[in-house]
Amino acid sequence: MSDAEDSAHSETPIAALTPRKAKAEHKLLAAEVQAANDAYFQDDQPIMDDAAYDAKRRRLVALEEAFPALKQESDVSAKVGAKPSGKFAKIRHRVPMLSLDNAFSDEAVGEFVGRVYRFLGRKEEDGIAFTAEPKIDGLSLSLRYEKGELVAAATRGDGEEGEDVTLNARTISEIPGTLAGPDVPDIAEVRGEVYLGHADFAGINERQREKGLPEFANPRNAAAGSLRQLDVSVTAARPLRFFAYAWGEMPVLPAPTQFGVVEAFRRWGFRTNPLMKRCESVAELIAQYRLIESQRATLGYDIDGVVYKVDDLALQARLGFVSRAPRWAIAHKFPAELATTVLEAIDIQVGRTGALSPVARLKPVTVGGVVVTNATLHNEDYIRGFDSKGLPIRDGTDIRIGDTVTVKRAGDVIPRVEAVDLAKRPADSKPYEFPTLCPACGSHATRELNPRTGKEDAIRRCTGGLICPAQAVERLKHFVSRDALDIDGLGDKQIEFFHSDPELPVREPADIFTLAARDAANLKKLKDKEGFGAVSAKKLFDAIEDRRTPPLNRFIFGLGIRHIGETTARLLARHYGSFEALRAAGIAAADEASPERQELDAIDSVGPTVVEALIEFFGEPHNEELLDRLLAQVSPQPLEAVASASPVAGKIVVFTGALERMTRDEAKAMAERLGAKVAGSVSSKTNLLVAGPGAGSKLKDAAKHGVEVIDEAGWFDLVGG
Ligand code: IVH
Repeated sequence: MSDAEDSAHSETPIAALTPRKAKAEHKLLAAEVQAANDAYFQDDQPIMDDAAYDAKRRRLVALEEAFPALKQESDVSAKVGAKPSGKFAKIRHRVPMLSLDNAFSDEAVGEFVGRVYRFLGRKEEDGIAFTAEPKIDGLSLSLRYEKGELVAAATRGDGEEGEDVTLNARTISEIPGTLAGPDVPDIAEVRGEVYLGHADFAGINERQREKGLPEFANPRNAAAGSLRQLDVSVTAARPLRFFAYAWGEMPVLPAPTQFGVVEAFRRWGFRTNPLMKRCESVAELIAQYRLIESQRATLGYDIDGVVYKVDDLALQARLGFVSRAPRWAIAHKFPAELATTVLEAIDIQVGRTGALSPVARLKPVTVGGVVVTNATLHNEDYIRGFDSKGLPIRDGTDIRIGDTVTVKRAGDVIPRVEAVDLAKRPADSKPYEFPTLCPACGSHATRELNPRTGKEDAIRRCTGGLICPAQAVERLKHFVSRDALDIDGLGDKQIEFFHSDPELPVREPADIFTLAARDAANLKKLKDKEGFGAVSAKKLFDAIEDRRTPPLNRFIFGLGIRHIGETTARLLARHYGSFEALRAAGIAAADEASPERQELDAIDSVGPTVVEALIEFFGEPHNEELLDRLLAQVSPQPLEAVASASPVAGKIVVFTGALERMTRDEAKAMAERLGAKVAGSVSSKTNLLVAGPGAGSKLKDAAKHGVEVIDEAGWFDLVGG
């Protein structure tokens, strides 16, 4: 559709359109704008001039304004301008950019502080200082300075690898190009939050409106869209701001405390948040939270909570991390926001594991500055108002189409339907009947019985397995998604296209890697198909080629095995080193008495649900065949053996008896950091028993199995400090 004549953009006045006509025009127009976006942002090959593009976008937005339901049809208008290009170079973070655990109540803050004390083996009277500071609702950025000069800026990305936005960052006046001061280290990675103030956000949206362009939903989206622009002049024109609050690689620190380092940031030329305070007790932390919360409305920028951090950096180092979040920090989130609207319809979506998820289609409503049109209804029981044990949810009130409902939105979480106003229930409404057939393939959808608890699973699942197109498509989308194989140019839309394309069908992951060869053998080429061109077809094939050697953790995650998220995938990748090893273990572990099963059970943070999911996945012949075909195409690369240099890497260690220099939790965390596996009991597989005073039966077990025994001092000698 490169031609103006082909345009779906009709000249009928919008007021004269019927909803059906509007829908048809909207669909075509959205496809055109999407194609123009892809051509412009991904291929750098515009297929229409600016005026034509602007006219189409204006019409698209006008249609959506007149027919709000159309906004759900496509998110093209919303995405425009914020489009991640896929074209930024990647930067690997030398120190991962982590996220934070959340606390939603004062009690949870008390528990967090308690955990810190326990982990460090400290008593209340010893005292530990914390900092409290606003949690800025923007996007995090890592700035690398060498000899005081800004050399690189990277977004968080997946925490391991972000996008190179150095040129964009240089246009932000609050990001110093050069750091000033006698104590600026040679290497300093300063991290913080890029955000937009409320007034600037309103100004940007006003200009969008004037130009007939879509508005941004909130300041954070606008900040992200403004920073991640290939055209740096767009970033430069947006008044982005920056608060510094953390750091990555910094071999020489300017102070021994969190507070001190942030003070140094200020001396070096950064803005730091004036509401950061050092606190000595839970009561003081909560008081600072209340103070910040009371100023929230007048700060002039969005915050979504308060972050508490252990102030002493030596203690932070001892506390370390749990999967993706530090043990020494927590985000105390502000309560969720609520709004009331009408539930217009319930749609059932089929996920990649076959789960049928009910989605509420709502009369659009603004919740905390964001227009919400969809919300989750979780599952059948949630709608019915009783869980599988017969216990009431919402006092047993069911949810019906036509109901006036309260919608709750908390931070990043998907909005959910929270309550029903029975006084407003239409007299003729009927209880919602949850489908028992899969809407995508018509197979029976059933609720499994959990063999361990004997309870019915809350989720109804399609039994169609691989024959269900929704599952196949969702699995493929997941396989190529950003946190999995991350194939540029192969997004949801393209997966849907290939899945149903007669010439180049993609039905399973292996098919992706044979696309180029199959296209070469075909008469009708991809480059001649609508939506593709020579440039984008070649780019797609190149991007696929580039992913034949994916990192093992991403590959495992991409398989979409139930209960295996990113963190568990990483853990398994580190533990097993190669896909072959994991696969062999997954197969052998079906035998409960096997050593492979014992090993799997002993991996810290891998619970029985994960173990069962792995066994089930590798035990399914369909999956075996699918994997064989896939592994004929790709070779997953082992994760960098982070801890392979350590003397205990790969060893199975057991701690017993009293430890003096560290708590048991700390010992375990340290061993794991060094690549060891910590087990709870001694077996023939154990390599090392670290025994303190008072050790009992484990010493005898060690003698029986010929396991090496050392004491705590021996442990520190071994691991070096
Ligand atoms: S500290 C290792 N401090 O929150 C912990 N994060 O949910 C590093 N954020 O990705 C983060 N304000 O983008 C920290 N004052 C603050 C923050 C803050 C906002 C963001 C940051 C991070 C996310 C985690």
